[in-house]
Amino acid sequence: MARRCCRLKNILICMCTPCCFLTFLYIYAALTISLQMNSMLSKVSSNLASPHFKALGSFRNYTGPSVPKTFWENHQESDALWNQLQRSVDHLFNPLLHPEKSNTLLERSSLDESLLHQSYNKVTAMDRVRDTFEKLPKQIREFARYMQRRDYPVLLHPDGECGAQSKQEKEPPLILFAIKSTVLNFKNRHAIRQTWGRIGWVEGWRINGSDGEVGGAYIRRVFLFGKETPEELGMDVSHLLRAESKRHGDILQWDFQDTFFNLTLKDVLFWSWFSHRCTQPLFVFKGDDDVFVNTPKLITFLKHQLKQHQTRGTMDEFMVGDVIGSATPNRVKRSKYFIPEGFYRGRYPVYAGGGGVVYSGGLARRLHNISKTIHLFPIDDVYVGMCMIRLNAHPVHHPAFLTFDFTEKEEAEPCSYHSILLVHKRSPREVVELWADIRSTREQCQDVPLRADKKKTLKTTPPPSA
Ligand SMILES: *[C@@H]1O[C@H](CO)[C@@H](O)[C@H](O)[C@H]1NC(C)=O
Ligand SMILES: *[C@@H]1O[C@H](CO)[C@@H](O)[C@H](O)[C@H]1NC(C)=O
Ligand SMILES: *[C@@H]1O[C@H](CO)[C@@H](O)[C@H](O)[C@H]1NC(C)=O
Ligand SMILES: *[C@@H]1O[C@H](CO)[C@@H](O)[C@H](O)[C@H]1NC(C)=O
Repeated sequence: MARRCCRLKNILICMCTPCCFLTFLYIYAALTISLQMNSMLSKVSSNLASPHFKALGSFRNYTGPSVPKTFWENHQESDALWNQLQRSVDHLFNPLLHPEKSNTLLERSSLDESLLHQSYNKVTAMDRVRDTFEKLPKQIREFARYMQRRDYPVLLHPDGECGAQSKQEKEPPLILFAIKSTVLNFKNRHAIRQTWGRIGWVEGWRINGSDGEVGGAYIRRVFLFGKETPEELGMDVSHLLRAESKRHGDILQWDFQDTFFNLTLKDVLFWSWFSHRCTQPLFVFKGDDDVFVNTPKLITFLKHQLKQHQTRGTMDEFMVGDVIGSATPNRVKRSKYFIPEGFYRGRYPVYAGGGGVVYSGGLARRLHNISKTIHLFPIDDVYVGMCMIRLNAHPVHHPAFLTFDFTEKEEAEPCSYHSILLVHKRSPREVVELWADIRSTREQCQDVPLRADKKKTLKTTPPPSA
């Protein structure tokens, strides 16, 4: 009996030992896996909070006009060149797919650019893509051939810090005017320098609804140039630009060809210059050299924004201008803006018209960083919109930015130019006349509020500046 009992015990032990062992092994494995998952997930989620990776077109707390959720078509089978390139680079940057790279994400700006190159080389080496490439119109092909390049050297530097004869100033400049120009537009620059783009201390003017005290602010200015060859211009004027730079100290020129599709380079290279060489200005105005800006009112408007935002915390997402909702690419072959389906598919993101837009210096530095993860796009203001979406930020529309001009009737109204911050397409002569005009009518027009949307101009609505 006892023997039999013993044998039973032995059998039990024989059977149970592996059982227990397996159970322990199982528990151990489960624990290890769950711990690892946890640490991976926390790594990933901390990266999702970093500015380097954001879900496509998601809008945190977005209250503007309704926009499509994602702007470009992200189908694997889409053979549009830009979409393929961006998909490839997004894959390289995605911390969910590359958790091992994720802890270096924040300090890898040089790596960023190499990832752009990597994705470019990988995608353009594919047969399917080479076919698409060959079918693109000449101008787009020219763009696409050089779109991975951004390291163009500076040919002419502005004077001192941030250009235009910076002197000892008691406070940081409020606005840096960064104006896209081309070599032959001497007259435009001349007009701007003596009117709305004048540097130094500039007085702000009261906006109806703003607080009594307005004061003024320091202004800086820089003109942005590519290079135009003597063959294109029919003559060599580079010595004139050098002389202009010497005299005014407000020329920033890079060594790339100054064409319409290369304008985006003026954004990314300007952001780089601004982030490294000109860190003081609180706001950047980026616009064309054929606009009229109501600088005294812009000063008051921005000081007011600053005050409002200081109470709310941050200016790092501030961008204001003429915001264009859900635009689609221009598919008309003869248009200057023509973008064929072989290059880009999808809608455009919300963006502020490039004629004139204002954003905070902090945002300019964030745009500089994020732009290293986004392939260049030939339309400059659309590209800025793409960068904004990746920052999870959105431009704010203000009807006082008229990048598409007044209606004739509205322009004829008295004090119309006192109600705007910017209007596009004014000749140098008109700019000079308008400047003299708003100064001479300042007294009688000082109670005019900033322009509001006609639809929303109910009597109860306060002016947008309020
Ligand atoms: C979004 O809105 C919520 C509530 O309205 C607020 O608590 C939160 O701070 C906002 N987030 C951002 C990033 O603005
Ligand atoms: C942009 O500039 C580069 C450098 O000068 C030039 O090679 C390229 O052709 C230009 N791109 C376009 C679209 O004009
Ligand atoms: C931009 O990136 C650099 C280096 O990666 C970092 O030091 C800096 O804080 C970033 N700036 C902003 C505004 O995110
Ligand atoms: C400007 O403000 C004053 C007082 O704040 C008000 O009486 C006047 O009607 C306003 N003008 C306009 C055009 O809104």
